Amino acid sequence: NTIAKQHRKLYFGSATNNVEFVNDTAYRDILQNNRMFGQITAANSMKWGSTEPFPGVFTFDDADQVVQFAKTNGQILRGHNCVWHNHLPDWVLNGTFTESEILSVVQRHCGTLVGRYRGQIYSWDVVNEVINDDGTFRETLFFNSSGTKYIATAFHTARAADPFAKLYANDFNIEGPGPKSTAYRNLIKDLKKEGVPIQGLGIQSHLVVGELPVNIKENLEAFTKLGIEVAITELDIRMTLPETPSLLAQQKKDYETIISACNEVKGCIGVTVWDFTDKYSWIPRSFAGEGNACPWDDNLQIKPAYFGIIDGFRK
Ligand code: G3I
Repeated sequence: NTIAKQHRKLYFGSATNNVEFVNDTAYRDILQNNRMFGQITAANSMKWGSTEPFPGVFTFDDADQVVQFAKTNGQILRGHNCVWHNHLPDWVLNGTFTESEILSVVQRHCGTLVGRYRGQIYSWDVVNEVINDDGTFRETLFFNSSGTKYIATAFHTARAADPFAKLYANDFNIEGPGPKSTAYRNLIKDLKKEGVPIQGLGIQSHLVVGELPVNIKENLEAFTKLGIEVAITELDIRMTLPETPSLLAQQKKDYETIISACNEVKGCIGVTVWDFTDKYSWIPRSFAGEGNACPWDDNLQIKPAYFGIIDGFRK
């Protein structure tokens, strides 16, 4: 984070889960060092399933603990997230809602969640993963009940609940050009035309070693030309196991490539890794035979990727 700030006032941060920083002291020692990490994202604790388990019943213990952790350590926070089709409580997942019902459910959830941390969050992922890879809208239960109306509702509600936070959409596979990136540019233009307060786009960046898209920089620039900022919000770069020295070297290069792309784009304002250690990475649970995607290994030792990050920020 110190190096990221030196050059262009970027932040460097990490996602984390409560069990990790509460129970694992060696992990906590690294995460709480704000010369290393200037920003924190709750990987799961602010999600709908974690914060509104029953209609109108909110539980903020874990989310509060993440916010407190970051505050204690002088780290800024990203809020993740208001509306996503995953990690939903059963009452939303199994419910049937008319358009006006789903919009008021979204309003109550986003308003209460964002309002609780008013003035304390740098940026909120107001909607997460609303577009498919082919550029069409994802047919979530929110979309099926309201079309795209829930998107505007979520942003207006978040704005009213916290006038200080930057309001983002967030998604994967929009690092390089393609139909999904084009669709996001169109969505952002439409939302802005309608007066919807969108101010940023989160580029998740769950990438694969040796398979980074080309023209990342140009793609990020095209987003910022619409008058929004962008951030790398969930960076990890996975490999097919077993790990080899050449995969580690390529991974280092790939971390440097994406971070220097952000660094070179004026409107790209920070980078978050989706947890900093392989010990707690989500990858092995979701991609059989793949892993080692983070800059610190299973034993909390830095990998070559760590130096790729530094080189990317120094460029
Ligand atoms: O905490 C429970 C534990 O009590 C239980 O025993 C266990 C059994 O499955 O589940 C635990 O919860 C899991 C949670 O991660 C904590 O590890 C959930 O099942 C699991 O679904 C959840 O996965 C998270 C996933 O989002 C879904 O919310 C991952 O950790 C998290 O890394 C992942 O993050 C997403 C971003 O939010 C959005 N972009 C993609 C990214 C990767 O999928």
